[in-house]
Amino acid sequence: MAENTVKAPSLAEPPPLGWHGGKTRIIAVANQKGGVGKTTTAINLATALAAVKKKVLLIDLDPQGNASTGLGISHEARVRNTYQVVMEQITLAEAIQPTDIPGLDIVPSGMDLSGAEIELVDVEEREFCLRRALAPVADEGGENGLYDYVLIDSPPALGLLTINALTAAQAVLVPLQCEFFALEGISHLMKSIERIRNGFNPELELQGIVLTMFDKRNNLSDQVASDVREFFGDKVYNTVIPRNVRISEAPSYGRPVLVYDLACAGSQAYLHLAGEVIRRERKEQAK
Ligand SMILES: Nc1ncnc2c1ncn2[C@@H]1O[C@H](COP(=O)(O)OP(=O)(O)OP(=O)(O)O)[C@@H](O)[C@H]1O
Ligand SMILES: [Mg+2]
Repeated sequence: MAENTVKAPSLAEPPPLGWHGGKTRIIAVANQKGGVGKTTTAINLATALAAVKKKVLLIDLDPQGNASTGLGISHEARVRNTYQVVMEQITLAEAIQPTDIPGLDIVPSGMDLSGAEIELVDVEEREFCLRRALAPVADEGGENGLYDYVLIDSPPALGLLTINALTAAQAVLVPLQCEFFALEGISHLMKSIERIRNGFNPELELQGIVLTMFDKRNNLSDQVASDVREFFGDKVYNTVIPRNVRISEAPSYGRPVLVYDLACAGSQAYLHLAGEVIRRERKEQAK
């Protein structure tokens, strides 16, 4: 994201998307660094939340469409997709489709989405397109509503699509790979989150940081994990996602790892993560 692309919204305030009060919780999964486990976390956290009877919507906002592929959505089934939603050609509700996982719906990505970064430049209030689209769905959230959680998988860049995700969300969940430059990358991301707060979405919270692809045989993984914990304290989830071959195999079968191999260490870790996400929110709501 170029710094000068972030400026205060010019027109009317967008509709409020409150979670406090038991409404839909909208979480963007974001990190501008590529290949850190965003999509894997979005798919498997969404599945784990659905497994404990939450109603979940996953929005695939990445032109790569990995979340759609990982949930077995064929290219033919992506006729109505996030591109049309973001460009306000169709409503979000029109683009929602069920997945094979009970309780988990998806808005798939489409080929055109990569063009949206450029096309959006001419759109008024271009940072709010997804937020506007989500408002009716989120407003119906809560006890009798559509969704308990909306997770947004974002691309590895801080362009307009990610800005749209962060502007629509109440919170951002950051997967962080335990590797040498992790802290450097994350401080860049934190600055961007601060800019989004100042420019578009003052309520954006840091939901949490989840350490991914942790390799216990690698001393560096340990070192990075303890540095990140020292810096971010209890914002870092206790659950650590291990490097696990079953996690990397699952997408080629179009299934979340929780369905592909429930017993494996990766699945168990994502179930733990979902538990932590829910507990942490209960605590926050009780405050
Ligand atoms: N815990 C894990 N163990 C092993 N492999 C993993 C794990 N998490 C993710 N992977 C694999 O690492 C690769 C990158 O993961 P993923 O696609 O989730 O990252 P991403 O941040 O969404 O990438 P991008 O930035 O390209 O969108 C994928 O091939 C995925 O299957
Ligand atoms: Mg991805």
